[in-house]
This record gives sequence, C-alpha cells and structure tokens, in this order.
Amino acid sequence: VSLQPYNTFGIAAQANYFLSITNIEQLRALRADPAIAAMPRLILGGGSNLVLSDQVDALVLKMDLLGKSIVGEDAEFVYVQAQAGENWHAFVQWTLALGLGGLENLSLIPGTVGAAPIQNIGAYGMEVQDALFQLEAFDFATGEMLVLDKAACQFAYRDSIFKHALKDRVAITSVQFALPKQWQPKIGYADVARYLQLQAISAPSPRAISDAIIAIRQAKLPDPQVIGNAGSFFKNPLVSAAQRDALLLNYPDLVSYPQASGEYKLAAGWLIERCGWKGKNLGRAGVYEKQALVLVNRGGASGVEVRALAQAVQADVLATFAVTLEIEPVFV
Ligand code: FAD
Ligand code: EPU
Repeated sequence: VSLQPYNTFGIAAQANYFLSITNIEQLRALRADPAIAAMPRLILGGGSNLVLSDQVDALVLKMDLLGKSIVGEDAEFVYVQAQAGENWHAFVQWTLALGLGGLENLSLIPGTVGAAPIQNIGAYGMEVQDALFQLEAFDFATGEMLVLDKAACQFAYRDSIFKHALKDRVAITSVQFALPKQWQPKIGYADVARYLQLQAISAPSPRAISDAIIAIRQAKLPDPQVIGNAGSFFKNPLVSAAQRDALLLNYPDLVSYPQASGEYKLAAGWLIERCGWKGKNLGRAGVYEKQALVLVNRGGASGVEVRALAQAVQADVLATFAVTLEIEPVFV
C-alpha cells in the first residue's frame, strides 16, 4: 500500500500491512492473534504530524472510528464526544454550529480528534488540555478499555503520557470535551488581537474568533494539499532567564515569551530565520518562505532528505545561539 495519500508531507512511503479500523472489536481481534499482536504497529490518524521513511515496517492501523455527539451537561459545562477518526477541524466547526464555544482557537489544525491529545495540540493561546475532559483508549497490553481523565494524560507543551509511559501501547478511541456555558474569549495572542482590531470587532463571538484564526493560519501556513508539510517542525525551546538575557545582549530583537516557571520560550522560527534558512532548500526539502519553523516538501522529498535538512538547521541554530531545537513531528 502506498502511504503517500495518508501523510501531509506527501512522502511516497510503502507499507506491507494496512488496515482501516472502524470498530473496537477489530482491535480486540488483532490482539487475540499472537502473530499479529507481536508486530510493530503504526497508529495512523490524518498523517499530519509524521515523517515517514520509504518503507514502513509496521502494521498500519488507520483510525476510521466515526461519530460525534453531545453526551451530557451540568451547571458549568456541555460535554461533547467524538470518535478518534473524526476530522479535528470539522469537529470544531460542528461544536461552533451548535453554539458551543471553547475550541475555536484550535480551528484549522489538521488531523484527527484521536491524535489531538498525543502532542496536546496547541495554537493561538490555548491547548487541547484546556477543554479536554476525558478520553477512552484501547490498551494493547491488556486488551482492556482505559478511561483517562485530563490529569492522567500528563499534558505539557506538545507532550502527554502517550509519548512516554503509554507510547506504542494504546489506541485512543474517543475523546470527550467540557465546553463552558460561561464562555470567555481568548484573544490575547498578538496576531489574533491585531486581526480583530483591524476588523473593528470588540466583543468577538466564538465564530468570529474561529474565522480570524482560519484567516491568520491561511496567510502563513502552507496548505498540505498544495505543498507537503507537517506544521511546525521544531518545538519552541525553553531557556533559562540568564540564557535569554545573554542572548538579548547580542540580539536585541530576539522573540521570547516569559513562562510561569521563570524560564523563557524562544520563537524557534525567529532563530531559524536569523540563521538565514528561511526560503532555503536542501535537496528536495525546504524551509517555508512565510514561516521558518515549517519544513516543506519541494516535490519528491524522502524522509532521509527531510531529516538531513532538519539536522542542518539544528546544527546552525546550536552553533549560533547555543540553543538545541527539538524535533516536533514523529519520525517513523
Ligand atoms: P498523525 O500524524 O496520523 O499521528 C501523529 C502521532 O499520533 C503518531 O505517533 C500516531 O501514531 C499517533 N496517533 C494518531 N492517532 C492516534 C490514536 N487514535 N491513538 C493513539 N495514537 C495515535 N499541531 C499543533 O499542535 N498546533 C498547530 O497549530 C498545528 N498546525 C499544523 C499545521 C499544518 C499545516 C500541519 C500539516 C500540521 C499542524 N500541526 C499542528 C500538527 C498536527 O496537525 C497535529 O499534531 C495533529 O494532532 C496530528 O493529527 P493526525 O491525526 O494527523 O496524527
Ligand atoms: N517568527 C519569525 N520568523 C519566522 C516565523 C516566526 O521571526 O519565520 C517569529 C515572529 O516574531 C512571530 C513568532 O516567531 O511573532 C511566533 O510565530 P507564530 O505566531 O507563527 O508561531 P510559532 O511560535 O512559530 C507556534 C506553534 C504553532 C501554532 C502557532 C500559533 C509550536 C512548535 N508551534 O508557532 O503550532 O500554530 O504557535 O499559536 O509551538 C504546530 O505545532 O505544528 C504548529 C503549527
């Protein structure tokens, strides 16, 4: 099976074993077969955070569980649930159409609902952990269904338990969100505030915030249908206040954000741009001209070429700023 249609980087990877998962019974049956249970697995959502190698030696399980519904409410929240295979952005739009705010800042993020908790997707002033109530997952180790509440997921910036203790062990099957009845807009992110001001919108609705974020994203992020990519290729690095102050002496226009911990988050896109990489290519992989944090496929790039470019960028940022950039997407 060619995985090219199933990854937004557009890498022409091949897989020998590929299964569409439409119900949980299939997962139980896979586990019950010792030969299949022993195979390495790749759980695949929308393939928007992956860099594949040419040959994927794993049983690829494409999560196609579908369905979304309102599951309850209390004084504070309306609870909505979606199955893992639902498209994230379509799900967000569905909540907005129901008049429910709370997910609008995460509009237009590619991929599936089931993958959203894996790296705790975040954008424009919120992370999925801010609205997540609990999730269900199939545990390949025990064959049981797990229910994990928000605390159990151990969320952090682009991180969760699914990248650590539960890595390669579970398939998230559904996710439940608590959407506040007393909705408050989150419009602190500079780009969002500026956009709404330009539109003369002073009391934005969830819909207006979603529209603003869609427009901002379309203006700076490449559409994977047109140019292959996996979004930000590196995490924004955390540095100590001392290191940030030292960098500021040499680079007064350094972009950094104070954290609750006292550390600073640096804009990796700024570091990469300052190293001269914006718009440059190495082989068939490149650094996107409108957003230097995004690596792109210039046509026919392999996973090896993407890795070579990533390593060249990391080496220059380390040499120039003494800052290590950590890769964000998953290499398979
Ligand atoms: P995949 O790429 O298919 O999988 C990603 C990882 O999750 C893999 O390890 C996979 O095995 C695992 N996985 C997937 N589904 C499941 C499941 N059901 N159970 C267990 N494991 C699973 N991310 C952000 O956080 N913020 C952004 O603003 C953002 N913008 C982006 C913009 C663009 C243009 C692109 C291409 C990507 C962007 N991303 C962003 C990254 C990406 O959209 C997210 O990481 C998304 O959650 C990936 O979803 P997916 O279904 O495509 O996952
Ligand atoms: N910048 C530059 N040059 C660039 C790119 C960015 O100087 O080429 C500087 C600018 O000063 C800009 C600042 O970096 O103001 C921040 O840029 P931007 O608002 O585009 O956000 P980001 O920090 O580059 C992060 C997330 C994105 C998310 C946006 C919006 C990470 C790794 N990335 O990017 O997430 O959409 O903020 O919240 O945290 C993703 O994870 O795939 C992703 C796209």
